[in-house]
Amino acid sequence: MESSRVVYLGQKLFLYAVGFAVAWLVVSAGMHYLDPDRIKAAERKKEIFKRFGRPLVETDAYEVDVIAQDVVNPDDIGVTFDSIGGLEIVKQSLKELVILPLRRPSLFARGKLLGLQKGILLYGPPGTGKTMLAKAIAKEAGAVFINVRIANLMSKWLGDNEKLVSAVFSLAHKLQPSIIFLDEVDSLLSHRRNFEHEASTSIKTEFLAQWDGFSTDQSARVMVLAATNRPWDLDEAALRRLPRAFEVGMPDMMQRASILRVILKDEKVDSGFDYEKLASMCEGYSGSDLLELCKSAAFLPVKELLAKEKSGQITCKLPRALQLADFENILATFTRTKVATTEYKAKRLDGEPEADDQIEFNISDFLKMLSIFSNNAHQNV
Ligand SMILES: Nc1ncnc2c1ncn2[C@@H]1O[C@H](COP(=O)(O)OP(=O)(O)OP(=O)(O)O)[C@@H](O)[C@H]1O
Ligand SMILES: [Mg+2]
Repeated sequence: MESSRVVYLGQKLFLYAVGFAVAWLVVSAGMHYLDPDRIKAAERKKEIFKRFGRPLVETDAYEVDVIAQDVVNPDDIGVTFDSIGGLEIVKQSLKELVILPLRRPSLFARGKLLGLQKGILLYGPPGTGKTMLAKAIAKEAGAVFINVRIANLMSKWLGDNEKLVSAVFSLAHKLQPSIIFLDEVDSLLSHRRNFEHEASTSIKTEFLAQWDGFSTDQSARVMVLAATNRPWDLDEAALRRLPRAFEVGMPDMMQRASILRVILKDEKVDSGFDYEKLASMCEGYSGSDLLELCKSAAFLPVKELLAKEKSGQITCKLPRALQLADFENILATFTRTKVATTEYKAKRLDGEPEADDQIEFNISDFLKMLSIFSNNAHQNV
């Protein structure tokens, strides 16, 4: 009697376990196949492979993540080398070192001296066109362009970061020829700091290890392109892996004139507009400062038209063409963001530290103390 009761309980338990297992399988399969992110990622994978004419190779979940978030479709990029003003020497060098070996590999097949550069660094002050150059390469190289978003690598669960890093490299291999682009590379591969988070140290170490793996493989048609405005912050190990570096500096007068020509290419500008004169008035301006200046100046004819409408004057329906005088007006009051923030900082440093500065200071001190404390505790275990 007792034994049949045990058998009955056993059977019941078994049935519960089977029921639970089946329900778990159904729910997880449903989540897997119906997850909108995963469906979107799978569609993006198909689109990218079709765009590059590559066969649909097997990819794991991490590689699909990289495809969904970081692989760039050149058709979505609006920048070409022609839309970058000045920087002629850098543009020419990048065409020879990157575009040509990717587009005409047969010219570089002989011997060991020629071939795709494994690492190139673009460095220079902010707003001078580094990211634009990378976009033009992505558009014109005909290679798969993986724009590694460092925040994406960091935001994953602990342990996943390293898998995502290795997925970037394995995917680049599978889809070669390919370019791995690291914008603001200093935020990933800077000198090691005392109070650095463990996750970012492990990402950095994994990245350097993976990078070594393919830079020694002569046949791999994979390169890393990096950009930074803080090259002095880069880790020695990263610099060693970027054997070619190009300075993307502040534009001189002639370069400013050609940037202005590019920016104003599709605008209505007075015939005989003196680009050189305007460029000479913009000493110390970067490409992005020039863009902001042009945006502000472009608004003046619109403002004028609205004012005339308001005062009842009959005007034509479209704003007049841009004139040099518009730029002179704007230049009289235009403060570049960098100059404005530097002046603001100087003003603030003159006085007492303000309340939120003090709070920031205290929080960062507190975090440092916590980190020392947890390190010590860790070492004592
Ligand atoms: N040489 C240039 N020709 C045309 N436009 C330019 C040029 N340089 C900068 N610009 C304008 O400035 C904007 C910012 O440029 P970009 O993002 O390439 O700068 P960056 O060098 O990457 O700066 P950062 O170091 O801050 O990332 C561009 O979107 C473009 O509109
Ligand atoms: Mg940039």
